[in-house]
Amino acid sequence: MSEYCFPPRFLWGISMSAFQYEMGASKESVDPNSDWYVWLHDPFNVVNGRVSGDVPENGPGYWDLFRTDHDWAKWIGLNAWRINPDWSRIFPRSTEEVKVDVHRDEGIIDIDITERDLEKLDKLANADAVKHYEEIFRDIKEKGMKLIVNLYHWPLPLWIHDPIVARDSFLREGALGWYEERSVVEFAKYVAYVAWKFGGLADMWSTMNEPNVVWMLGYNNLIFPPGVICPEASLRVAINMIEAHARAYDQIKRFTGSDYVGIIYAVTPSEPLTDSEEDRRASEISDYRSTLWYFEAIINGILDTSFGDMFEGEKITRKDLKDKADWIGVNYYSRSVVTSFKEPYFYRVVPNYGFACSPRSKSSDNRPTSDFGWELYPEGIRKAINLVKVYGKPLMITENGVADSRDYIRPWQIPTHLAQVYKAIREDGANVMGYLHWSLIDNLEWAAGFRQRFGLIYVDMETKRRYPRPSAFIYRAVSYTHLTLPTT
Ligand code: BGC
Repeated sequence: MSEYCFPPRFLWGISMSAFQYEMGASKESVDPNSDWYVWLHDPFNVVNGRVSGDVPENGPGYWDLFRTDHDWAKWIGLNAWRINPDWSRIFPRSTEEVKVDVHRDEGIIDIDITERDLEKLDKLANADAVKHYEEIFRDIKEKGMKLIVNLYHWPLPLWIHDPIVARDSFLREGALGWYEERSVVEFAKYVAYVAWKFGGLADMWSTMNEPNVVWMLGYNNLIFPPGVICPEASLRVAINMIEAHARAYDQIKRFTGSDYVGIIYAVTPSEPLTDSEEDRRASEISDYRSTLWYFEAIINGILDTSFGDMFEGEKITRKDLKDKADWIGVNYYSRSVVTSFKEPYFYRVVPNYGFACSPRSKSSDNRPTSDFGWELYPEGIRKAINLVKVYGKPLMITENGVADSRDYIRPWQIPTHLAQVYKAIREDGANVMGYLHWSLIDNLEWAAGFRQRFGLIYVDMETKRRYPRPSAFIYRAVSYTHLTLPTT
């Protein structure tokens, strides 16, 4: 049996997010100024089971324990760390008083932010939070890891989004987050400010994590803020987030000159239930709507406001959206299996495959499922890579992992998925720069709380002590040797 050997400069790392990791070890670590904070504390959400009742201030406490966690990463042998500052910590109060020039055509095509504006923003920023993030970033660098800074991983400041008012007024009142165009402008200011402050420290940048999950779960589901079901709002949010990404990309380029400004996206490749022409077509539509639609906009500058014929709309060419990613981050957890369905959806996700399975069971394909009920389907990571490879950008696996508190599946999940990444590199010619596992330690799994455990390292949320799971040793062996085992 021969091993699969990854390229020598391949990055091995982990991904984390501020909200899921930071709070928990001290009173000072608590940030109550975001939509997600309010969302998880909302009694209506808790009573109706939309959220778990777990709250971030009982979390793993990275804000205070970051040095310990970086040491754990070093012990595993990692050389890359993906992190995000939270917008609500940097700007707990509105930045609207800093007036900037906004140029419009078919949308916001340019935002002119000057050094003088940045100085004004500096006065509004929470200096303690900025200083604290700088300490965290420096420690990552000093420990020899590449610093991958992502600007947005879901929480929005309350002055941008009040999710309870938004939900209760069905998007008619209050601060409406990505539903409003002003968020595009304010996001650009925040991004420009962070790029200007931390430009010298970051090795790579991403504007956002999984914008597609925000417009899907926030506006087609009840569990993510603002929890309204409204496909038209979902499309509007998606378009605003595309614009926000493009304008954020411009700012990072302007203030850092970095060659690595990208986007992190949840790529869920789809497969037809049967080999029939209808099902194959359904699968193509699913891949287009869930993934390619977005990249057509930010790489090719084609904004399809009909969202693949689901709404009245057209394909608009927008130069200002074109070529707005130097690299693409692929987050992969599972696939979707689809079958054809009536208009305007054209496809339907088939239960008992992909994300639609029962916890700790088997899918219809006899694959194991996670504590979350997600099917483990290693071949899908190769498909995900190939789906976005067509855009010719360097890629990175920016998230991959499993909710598995007992660590029964993870020791198998890591090598099987890596073997498929290896095949994508060697056999399909994909340029994959690295693999970031989700995640280093147990953390707050959004609406699902602390029950879903994704850590290579177990965290006792009472004492905040960390204990490596067996799979941490497996990932360690991989990162030290660059080898993984071939698996079928
Ligand atoms: C998100 C993470 C999340 C993980 C597991 C990704 O969609 O970026 O924040 O914890 O999936 O659900």
